[in-house]
This record gives sequence, structure tokens and C-alpha cells, in this order.
Amino acid sequence: MTEVYSPAEDSYFFSEFLKKYISKKRINSYLDMGTGSTILSDTVSKVLSRKNILVADINPTAVRLAREKGFNAIETDLFENIKDKFDLITFNAPYLPKDLRESKSSQLATTGGRRGDEISLKFLGQAKKHLKKNGKVFLLISSLTPLDKINKFNPEIVARKKIFMEELFILEFF
Ligand SMILES: C[S@@+](CC[C@H](N)C(=O)[O-])C[C@H]1O[C@@H](n2cnc3c(N)ncnc32)[C@H](O)[C@@H]1O
Repeated sequence: MTEVYSPAEDSYFFSEFLKKYISKKRINSYLDMGTGSTILSDTVSKVLSRKNILVADINPTAVRLAREKGFNAIETDLFENIKDKFDLITFNAPYLPKDLRESKSSQLATTGGRRGDEISLKFLGQAKKHLKKNGKVFLLISSLTPLDKINKFNPEIVARKKIFMEELFILEFF
């Protein structure tokens, strides 16, 4: 069984950002890509009915736990099994370059590929067509993630936070 990512500094940082965002912007539909513990959906569900929230994860254990908490949850590799469009899509992505010392189980939540940006780039390549008019995508990555290819999607840095050995960035797209 693959472990589910326990909320960490990145999760709390993103959750605080979202709390402020949804207090200012009205949204009617939300996709929580890579939901893990559902921490981000827990935040959004304070203002949006759970029936308008879809949580998604490649990890079947995360999906099962999310369903037990009452969320609509789908097991999917990024948008593979998702047809709908949303006002808001977030992804606290696995953003670290591959480290062979890390266990396979935790790599699923933390490793973005050999360079670290591969999953984020695939996500960005698919996300736009799942946005409603004026919809927004927020992606969390870190200073350890290469930015050269991600920058081609014209992100705006909307929040940043220094933690132990890195800096976290929340990027807005589209
Ligand atoms: C850094 S964790 C974030 C979890 C949670 N959203 C949070 O903020 O604490 C990344 C999550 O993305 C999921 N994930 C990794 N690759 C994925 C993929 N290709 N499609 C969907 N989810 C994926 C992992 O299983 C994990 O739950």
C-alpha cells in the first residue's frame, strides 16, 4: 500500500494561500489534483459544497480515504480520467529531482521526475483545456525545481516562502 502524503509545510502554505484566494474570488467548481490527505479540499469546502469539488490522485489509498471523508474522488494519472472543466485547479506537485535514496512509496508524492519538473510540465500541458472561462490554475513548486521549461507557460509568482533548504513558490497560470 502506498503511503499518503502527510500535510507538511508546503501543504499548510498552499492551504493558507487558498483560504485568502477563496475569500476574495467566487468559484463554483474546484479540482484538487494530487489531493493526498485532502488538506486543500478541506479548506475549499469551507466555502464550496463538496458536490462541486473533485479530488484526484494517482494513489488509490488517497482516493479511498478521500471518499471516506465524503469527497467525490477519482483515481487518475493527471487528467487521464477527467472530462470536466473547473473554475479553479490546484496542484501541490511532486517537485523534487529524483533521489535514489528515497523509497519508491514516498517518491510518488515528492519526485517530479529525473529533473523534478516533468510532472508539473505534463500537468500544465493538460490543465488549460480543463478550465472554465476566466478559470485559474495554481501550482506549487520549489527553488529545487528547474524553472526554464515551466516559464514557457508564463507563470506569475503569487506567493513564496523560504523553508529549511529551499523556497516554495505558488505560481498562477492562464
Ligand atoms: C506533494 S503531495 C501533495 C498532497 C496534498 N495536496 C498536500 O498539499 O499535502 C503530491 C500528491 O500528488 C499525487 N500525485 C503524484 N503524481 C500524480 C499524478 N501523475 N496524477 C495525480 N496525482 C499525482 C501524489 O500521490 C500526492 O498525493
